[in-house]
Amino acid sequence: MNREIFFRAASEYGTPLYLYDLGEIERRIKRAKDTLKSLDFKIFFAMKANSNPYLLKFIHTYGIGADTVSVNEYKMALFAGFNTGEIIVNGNGKSLEDLEFYIAQNPLCINVDSKEEIAKFGNKNAKIALRINPDVNPQTHPHISTGLKENKFGMDFETAKEVIKTLPSNLKMVGLHCHIGSQITKIDPFIEAFSSIEKFVRSQGIKLEFLNVGGGWGIDYKKDGTEMDLDGYRKIVVPFLSTLDMPIYFELGRFITASAGYLVSKVTEVKRNSYKNFVILDASMADLIRPALYDAYHEIEILNDGEEMIADIGGRICESGDIFARSRKIKIPNPGDLAVIHDAGSYGYSMASNYNLSLKPAEVAFDGEKLILIRKREKFEDILNLCLEDEDENI
Ligand code: LLP
Repeated sequence: MNREIFFRAASEYGTPLYLYDLGEIERRIKRAKDTLKSLDFKIFFAMKANSNPYLLKFIHTYGIGADTVSVNEYKMALFAGFNTGEIIVNGNGKSLEDLEFYIAQNPLCINVDSKEEIAKFGNKNAKIALRINPDVNPQTHPHISTGLKENKFGMDFETAKEVIKTLPSNLKMVGLHCHIGSQITKIDPFIEAFSSIEKFVRSQGIKLEFLNVGGGWGIDYKKDGTEMDLDGYRKIVVPFLSTLDMPIYFELGRFITASAGYLVSKVTEVKRNSYKNFVILDASMADLIRPALYDAYHEIEILNDGEEMIADIGGRICESGDIFARSRKIKIPNPGDLAVIHDAGSYGYSMASNYNLSLKPAEVAFDGEKLILIRKREKFEDILNLCLEDEDENI
């Protein structure tokens, strides 16, 4: 994205600010579709990565469905124009109330996470898929691995067998589901997972309407070429999936929106002690928690043309872990310079918090010409309102 756009966005809407490049979202969707084109497939956008309704509407125009993990995500999908037949319900530990809502909605499919969840349906009719945990190592950060037997998600093959055998007639098993983890760059874990599912399907002799293989495609945060091996996926995984002879569903989140999003912030202070340089931004772990939570790498660009230095780049939160990057080579900033954090379009705003009573940033989309405010900056009053008694309204 052109530097001038960052300056324009910051001066019009203030910082910190999430800025999304719609052209990049379109390119990512095209890359995903191109990789899968020889397959009978449908992509569902994993809304946990980004649930801004403007972006959801934009993504929907490319024929993409919605993967939801909460009643509120489901309601947001409806608000953004997805119809129930394009929405998948995921999630573990669904409450009875949640399930009642989903069942009444009659979505494309409810992914059942456990044997115990089956009983919660009572005698209500629903289309379900069983979430299989194939016990495969996705070779990613342990916090975002989901398909190992020590992870809380899904059921092992033995349990799935039992569930299928005893499935009540009000539940129609339309598919199987598996999602082994996120930010995966190698194809081997997918092959391992999908082969064991294929064996299971054949051994059980079950007829499915689809197989949902989840998401997990990794992106190139370090800009060193380490990203999901799409070429390998197209040449090896796709032909394997074709042999299953049924539609394959994908729940892609990060891959679609991560590289389209930037957290635009301002340098508030450059401090030096005898040991280190620190650059402090007006953004923080409350706006983008990935570096603090997973030690995740995000490129950070200081928008000036000066000399370089090595510094730790941190936020304004009272917590030592509020660091975006350690010992990073950056342009020597002056207070007031813009610092742009790259690849923040997935699991950025959607994981933001009010820690230290931080106000959530505004979100702006760039359509190639204009900037469009797609979520206002949160105000102190928005937070305070939730704490007021009715009679306190004028505080
Ligand atoms: N389907 C299911 C069932 C999932 O649990 C997830 C992500 C996805 C699809 C989408 O995965 P993706 O294509 O985005 O890799 N907050 C972490 C990522 C957590 C992912 C959780 N599940 C991060 O910032 O890296």
